[in-house]
Amino acid sequence: MSRIAYVNGRYLPHAKALVAIDDRGYQFADGVYEVAPVQAGRIVDLEPHLDRLGNSLAALRIEAPAPRSALVLICRETLARNRVTDGIVYIQVTRGVAPRDHGFPKLPVKPALVVTAKAIGWPIEAGADLGAAIVTTPDIRWGRCDVKSIGLLPNVLAKQKARDAGAFEAWFVRADRTVAEGASTNAWIVDPEGRLVTRPLGPEILPGITRATVLGLARAAGIEVVERPFGMDELLSAREAFLTSTTALVRAVVSVDGRPIANGYPGEITRQLRALCIAHYRGAGAA
Ligand code: PDD
Repeated sequence: MSRIAYVNGRYLPHAKALVAIDDRGYQFADGVYEVAPVQAGRIVDLEPHLDRLGNSLAALRIEAPAPRSALVLICRETLARNRVTDGIVYIQVTRGVAPRDHGFPKLPVKPALVVTAKAIGWPIEAGADLGAAIVTTPDIRWGRCDVKSIGLLPNVLAKQKARDAGAFEAWFVRADRTVAEGASTNAWIVDPEGRLVTRPLGPEILPGITRATVLGLARAAGIEVVERPFGMDELLSAREAFLTSTTALVRAVVSVDGRPIANGYPGEITRQLRALCIAHYRGAGAA
C-alpha cells in the first residue's frame, strides 16, 4: 500500500506530495513541527502535543493553519488512510509560500500544513530494553530550543556524530559543562542518592511531552524528582542515566563517550519508568 500525505488541503500519494520551492520552510526553515505517538489506533497525549504546536507557532508569529478540531480530524484521517495503528503522526507548519525575502511576507499568506503518518513496531522495538550508548557534543544551537523548529541542522550533525560512533544519541553539552538535552531526546540521570534529575524547562531545551509524562509518572510512583541542570561530572558518576522521547519512550543510557554509567546496564529506576511509560501509552493519556 502506498503512503498518503496530507498537503495543504489534499491527500496525495507520498511521491506526489510536493511543496513549492518558495515555501519558507524550504528557504529559511521558517516553520515548526510535532511528532505524536500512536498506539493501538489512538494518538497518545494529543492535547499536550497540540498545545506545544500552538506555543511554537505563537513564538514564530505563524498563524494556526487550521482550527484545532480540524487539525485533529486531518491527523486521524491521515492515520486511517495509511492504516497506521502503531507509529507516529507528523505535523509540519511553515509560514507559507512567498517570494524569497528574509522578513515576513508583506502580503498575508496562508501557512502551509503537511501531515504524514508512519508505522513503527513499538513501543517495544527490538533491543530497546538493552540500553543505549551516547556521545556528547558541544551545544551549538540557537537560543530558542524550546521552539520545535524545523531548523535542525545542529541536531542533524549531532545525530550523525552519534551514528558514526556507533551510538544511539548525542547529548548537547553547554559551555558551562551542563547537559542540555539530546539531538532528539531529553536527558536524565539518577543521582547517587536515588533522586531523578532533569533540566528545568527553559530556552535551552524542548519541553518534551515524554519528559512531562515521566515527571508525572515518577512523582506518582513516589520517586523524588529534582528539576535542575546536571553537569558532565555528575553524569559520569550517576547511578543511572536515561533519555526520553516520543519514539524512544524511556531508554537507558549505559555509556557516555565510551565510558560506562555505573555497571553499564540499565538501572532499576529507568526500567521501572520505562514500564510505566509503556503502560501509559497503552492506556491513560491516549485520545
Ligand atoms: N524529537 N528534545 C529534542 C531536541 C527533540 O527533538 C525531541 C523530540 C525531544 C523529546 O520530546 P518528546 O518527548 O515530545 O518527543 C527532546 C522528535 C521525536 C523528533 O524530532 O522526531
